[in-house]
Amino acid sequence: MRGLRRSSTSSLVLPSALLFFCCFTIGDAGGGGVLRLGYYSESCPRAEDIVQEQVAQLYHKHGNTAVSWLRALFHDCMVRSCDASLLLETSRAAGVSEKASPRSFGMRNFKYLDAIKAALERECPGTVSCADALALAARDGAAALGGPRAAVRTGRKDSRAAYYAEVERDVPNHNDTVSAVLDRFAAAGVVGAEGAVALLGAHSVGRVHCFNLVGRLYPAVDAGMDPAYGAYLRGRCPTADAREDTRDVAYARNDRATPMLLDNMYYKNLMARRGLLLVDQRLADDPRTAPFVARMAADNAYFHDRFAAALITLSENNPLGDDEGEVRRDCRFVNPA
Ligand code: HEM
Ligand SMILES: *[C@@H]1O[C@H](CO)[C@@H](O)[C@H](O)[C@H]1NC(C)=O
Repeated sequence: MRGLRRSSTSSLVLPSALLFFCCFTIGDAGGGGVLRLGYYSESCPRAEDIVQEQVAQLYHKHGNTAVSWLRALFHDCMVRSCDASLLLETSRAAGVSEKASPRSFGMRNFKYLDAIKAALERECPGTVSCADALALAARDGAAALGGPRAAVRTGRKDSRAAYYAEVERDVPNHNDTVSAVLDRFAAAGVVGAEGAVALLGAHSVGRVHCFNLVGRLYPAVDAGMDPAYGAYLRGRCPTADAREDTRDVAYARNDRATPMLLDNMYYKNLMARRGLLLVDQRLADDPRTAPFVARMAADNAYFHDRFAAALITLSENNPLGDDEGEVRRDCRFVNPA
């Protein structure tokens, strides 16, 4: 209110006051209003610097870990809330780990998130939630991969349980329809085709195991796939019976041209019928999503802008407030009672 009254003397105050109101109402009902930029600026002023330093070091040594944080944030936020429920190991207190779900197949590098959390605990014990550590790591990871830097708010709390039974229901599958995908994203706060198309651009980096591909390659190469690309993928995945087992190490890169760049090559590939997953390729064919695919393929800056916006929205899905969760000491286990 104070800002509004003072606006008569300063032309800068009114717009910022409006921004304030806009962003608190856009956030989800419930805990949405608890998030803000720089939530730890007093309780742990170096928190965001520490994440950034850790990400820079880890990225330098294990570049794939930046890729993993993006996928991990997506899976965590699709199931109820961005509450680090994904990070819990199976335990009596938390229940069966979400990581054990078939939908989490291929997820990796969780130990590097533990390293970030350990650095935060050394600086400010019991202060920075695992959910925020993941959101900030994904933010800095996206930037390290040449993507945009999103203005991620903080203040999430961590869940006291894992929701194994909800993972297959709420995280889309590789062969889902566009309708199913749009419904799932909308339920997580990302309403509309543009944001969904932008988020799938994360498949510009990383890899897919043959288990998730052979259905498009055998007995015949999917008619919707560029035949030359099909032949290449059959070389990567030489047999039809890939197993749902990460020890079955055969995989294909999401983007052969720029595999470690979060860029719009993904959309160019889709338009050339070189989508990897069925769900990727469908974005180029469905009339609701195709126009955004074409526009992102043509304009990397537009992709980056929409990716950052959608990542922020997704990262603010239903955050837990102070009384709804805790700050876990170890991201893998709920705090002892
Ligand atoms: C319709 C939605 C989505 C589906 C069905 C989906 C499915 C998949 C599948 C099946 C894989 C390959 C797993 C493997 O075989 O190892 C994968 C990888 C990946 N996904 Fe998605 N995904 C979706 C959306 C997203 C979103 C929104 C993000 C992030 C913003 C994301 C980030 C990633 C990343 C980075 C990888 C590579 C992981 C690695 O190399 O370890 N995905 N996704
Ligand atoms: C999608 O793929 C899974 C295997 O990953 C399979 O069990 C399921 O039947 C497929 N669904 C459809 C609709 O084809």
